[in-house]
Amino acid sequence: MRTQVGIVGAGPAGLLLSHLLALRGIESVVVETRSRAYCEARQRAGIIEDGAVRLLREAGLGERLDREGLEHGGIYLQFAGERHHIDFRDLTGGRSVTVYAQTEVVKDLIARRLADGGAIEFEVTGTAVAGLDTDRPLLSYTSADGSRHDVTCDVIAGCDGFHGICRTAIPGSLLTVREREYPYAWLGILAEVPPSTDELIYAHHPDGFALHSMRTPQISRLYLQVAPDESITNWSDDRIWAALQQRFALPGWELQEGPIFEKSITPMRSFVSSPMRHGRLFLAGDAAHIVPPTGAKGLNLALADVTILADTLEGLLLRGDTALAGGYSDRCLQRVWRSTHFSWWMTTMLHPSPGADPMDLELQLSQLRYVTGSRAAATSLAENYVGYPAIR
Ligand code: FAD
Ligand code: PHB
Repeated sequence: MRTQVGIVGAGPAGLLLSHLLALRGIESVVVETRSRAYCEARQRAGIIEDGAVRLLREAGLGERLDREGLEHGGIYLQFAGERHHIDFRDLTGGRSVTVYAQTEVVKDLIARRLADGGAIEFEVTGTAVAGLDTDRPLLSYTSADGSRHDVTCDVIAGCDGFHGICRTAIPGSLLTVREREYPYAWLGILAEVPPSTDELIYAHHPDGFALHSMRTPQISRLYLQVAPDESITNWSDDRIWAALQQRFALPGWELQEGPIFEKSITPMRSFVSSPMRHGRLFLAGDAAHIVPPTGAKGLNLALADVTILADTLEGLLLRGDTALAGGYSDRCLQRVWRSTHFSWWMTTMLHPSPGADPMDLELQLSQLRYVTGSRAAATSLAENYVGYPAIR
C-alpha cells in the first residue's frame, strides 16, 4: 500500500489534518486504535478560540458549529466572595470564544472525511513507524479484520496523543522534554441541567478551584479541584454537588442541580517535547505537548499545529519546498510555549496547592484582584484566552 501522508491518531489533530490535506489534493490514511463510537464520545475540551472557529468555517466545517456553538464574549473570575466579569469583546477589539464540545468537532470531522471518501481505519492494533530518516517512511498496523498492512508514505504525521507511539519513535537523545506535574487534578461532570450562568465561571476558593462550563443550553459541564490520586468512587453525586455549592456560593445567585450522567478525573500536567519534527515524522497536538486545562488551550493548540502542518506539507509534497518543513517545529513551538505559560499562569493563580501557606494565598488573591481591577492586566488575560498569536 502507498499513500502520501500516513496519519497516526483520529483525534482532532489527525482528523483535521487529513481534511486540510484533502482540500489541497494530498492523499492520506488515518489509523486509530479506538472505535469510531469511542472517539466520538470521549469527553474532553469545550472551548474554541475565534481563530480556530474561523479556520473550521473556512475549511467547510462550520455548519453545525455556527448553528449549535454558543459564542461567549467573556468569563467570570470568582474569589474572596466576589464575582468579576472579564469582557473579552471590549478588551480585544470584539473577539470571543465558542463553546462547542470536542466530541462534536470530532463527529463533524469523521462524518466529513467519510463523506469525502477519506480513509480512516478504526480499531487497529500494533501501529509502528519506521524509516523516518528516509524519503519513504513506513506506517504498519493490523486492521480490525486481523490483516497486517505496511503503508509506504512520503511523510508520517504523529497525531496520536500523549500516550501514542510516534514521539517515542524519535531517539531520546534528540529530544528535549520540559515537564511540570501539578499537585491536584480535576473531577469533571456532565449534568442534565441548564447552566446557571451565561458565561464560564472560574472560581478560586480555599477548598479548591471550581469551574462552571456548559455544553448546550440543557447540559452543564462542571469541574472541581481534587487530590491528584483521588478515586472517583469517593465522590458520590451528593458530595460533588455539595462541594460545587460551597465553592460557587454567592449571595443572590443559585447553582441549579440535576442528574449527573458522566464523571471522571483528569490529572494536570504541562509537558513540551521538542523538536516536533524528526526527518519525515511530524508531531502535532498532544503527541508533542500537554497543558493543564485551566486555559482551555489543549484542543486549540492541536488545531493550530495541523493548520501549520498542512501548509508545510503542501510546500514539501507539492512544490518540493524543504524550508517550510525545516521551520515547522519552531513555528509551532512559539505558540505552544505561549499557551504553556498562559495555562500554567491561570492554573497557579486559581488552584490553592495542598499545604499552601497564608503567604501563597495572599499572592493568589493579589494577582486575581490585579487581573480584575487593572484594564492592562485584564487585557493580557483576554488576549491569551481568545488566542494569541492569531493562527494565521
Ligand atoms: P487526542 O485527542 O489524544 O487524539 C489522539 C488519538 O490517537 C486518540 O484517538 C488515540 O486513541 C489515538 N492513538 C493513540 N495511540 C495510537 C496508536 N498507537 N495507533 C493509532 N492511534 C493511536 N483540553 C481542554 O482545552 N479542555 C479540557 O477540559 C480538556 N480535558 C481533557 C481531558 C482528558 C482526559 C485529556 C486526555 C485531555 C483533555 N484536554 C482538554 C486536552 C484536549 O482534549 C487535547 O489537547 C486534544 O484532545 C488534543 O488532540 P489530539 O488530536 O492531539 O490528541
Ligand atoms: C470545558 O468546557 O470542558 C472547559 C472549559 C474551559 C476550560 C476547561 C474545560 O478552561
